[in-house]
Amino acid sequence: MLWSRIKMVVHPRTKFFRWTLTPCPSVWRWIVVALLVVSFGWVGGVSAADTRGMVSSGHPLATAAGLDVLKSGGNAIDAAVAVGLTLGVVDVCNSGIGGGCLMLIHLANGKLVAIDGRETAPAAATRDMFIRDGRAVPALSQTGALASGVPGELAAFEYAAKRFGKKQWRELVQPAADLAEQGFALQRGYAARLQAEAADLAQFEASRAVFFREGRPLRGGEILRQPDLAATYRAIAEQGSRWFYRGPFARAAEQWMRDNGGLLTAADFAKYRCRIREPIITTYRGYTIISFPPPSSGGVHVAQMLNILEHFDLKALDEATRVHVLTEAMKLAFADRAHWLGDPAFARVPRGLVSKSYAATLAGRIRLDRATEVPTHGLPPNWRRDVFKKHTTHFSVADADNNWVACTATVNTSFGSKVVIPGTGVVLNNEMDDFSAQPGVANYFGLVGAEANAIAPGKRPLSSMSPTLVLRDGQPILSLGAAGGPKIITAVLLELVCLLDLGFSPEAALAAPRFHHQWSPAELMFERQLPEPLQAALIERGHRLRPLSSGSVSHLVARSADGRSFVGAADPRSGGQATGW
Ligand code: GLY
Repeated sequence: MLWSRIKMVVHPRTKFFRWTLTPCPSVWRWIVVALLVVSFGWVGGVSAADTRGMVSSGHPLATAAGLDVLKSGGNAIDAAVAVGLTLGVVDVCNSGIGGGCLMLIHLANGKLVAIDGRETAPAAATRDMFIRDGRAVPALSQTGALASGVPGELAAFEYAAKRFGKKQWRELVQPAADLAEQGFALQRGYAARLQAEAADLAQFEASRAVFFREGRPLRGGEILRQPDLAATYRAIAEQGSRWFYRGPFARAAEQWMRDNGGLLTAADFAKYRCRIREPIITTYRGYTIISFPPPSSGGVHVAQMLNILEHFDLKALDEATRVHVLTEAMKLAFADRAHWLGDPAFARVPRGLVSKSYAATLAGRIRLDRATEVPTHGLPPNWRRDVFKKHTTHFSVADADNNWVACTATVNTSFGSKVVIPGTGVVLNNEMDDFSAQPGVANYFGLVGAEANAIAPGKRPLSSMSPTLVLRDGQPILSLGAAGGPKIITAVLLELVCLLDLGFSPEAALAAPRFHHQWSPAELMFERQLPEPLQAALIERGHRLRPLSSGSVSHLVARSADGRSFVGAADPRSGGQATGW
């Protein structure tokens, strides 16, 4: 589906923008803070450098699985698939074959491929399926039988591996099956997530059977063995994804749904196809930025914000003005997200959102001296404060042949719908909550949406996942992405600014404090308490501030400055790992 031409959005109350840029050395304060953060290790980031390949992911076992594949002759696409399948065993709170993914690939021959493994709504889904007594009921779209779309991750992984990989499919799946059988020690973070979701997981017998022992959720350090999931993986290793989409898994899912009031059917599974999309390509200060198109909003808005920011010399701005300008760009982009974005097969998403001329218009609306009100496109404001835990996962891989992968995968919120399909070990996503259940009503992430993201049969819910590749002189130098709902988009933006504008090292770029504004709620959220003077300067400009304890989680692989090796970095906020060889 082609995007329509942009219809310009009128923001009548926005004043003209004044150029009052003041060069200030305070950029060095950011650099020093980030370097100190890393060198004192109080956030414990993991980085590595090597020449033959690099993997960065959210779990050391997944990174090791990817590296094993590279070492045994696989390419970056094989390795990425092995990482993703392993994460589905050791980190199923974030992703798994019961969920979806978006995979962006730069092949050795320079070709770009964007594989959309996003979930689809069941054929029986209806626009108002989560409305009761006139109001959207979040519990229905977040937990249990109605919450899941048809998973897409496995279809995407199989397509990637069979089309672009070098290894046999079964060689990629079997090690993850073995790990599921043998078990692994739960990381503390995983155990905490299990504890936090225990009440919802406990509603479902098969979920209790996997994640509970003696009536309580497994604790950090205890061994999680998943024999059902191991059997599922083995069947998929031998029979491919048809076992899942057109075989025993689809039938088991239909049976469970029928018994529990769900809508998914075996026919929905049989109909599922991953889609090959045309990546979004823009430029930023001489670099080429490749990002993921709708049904993700991520690529559109990363590109849109970079296009806006090109009108400002971010490096020369004082710290408060730089944060202010970035925030204003975020607000403008998220206002458009709420109105325009949705599955392009159903909604007319204007291609002009990523045009340089539209960005110039928006940049012209940013005042340096105060926050502007970005008007609604007709949606009521909606406030929600209890959001922003960590979800989803991102991994990046590169190999010596110049294959690069950026893949973000998710079951949506922690443990998705909390439903394990009995006998399979597969946790189903709750991606139906990424639709706009009712125009103007916020979803789990506090995001509002419009008709463009309303529920329809077979439609893909709008995502924020933003796997991104950066090229210099036509050659890839960076693969990155993040987890964290809408904060994915702003985390990727901030990392790009840290790396491309401010010259941070990859570790420092991941460690730098993040901030986030998503237009609604009208709050500038910060990961950590800001220095008083910076807070005061932002409040002075009219921003409403709120400290944010839990941030996004990001992983990246980059070319070293001399171009000879790879540098990998794992987010210090989480227990991931980057390893090369
Ligand atoms: N489920 C989170 C996202 O796709 O944005």
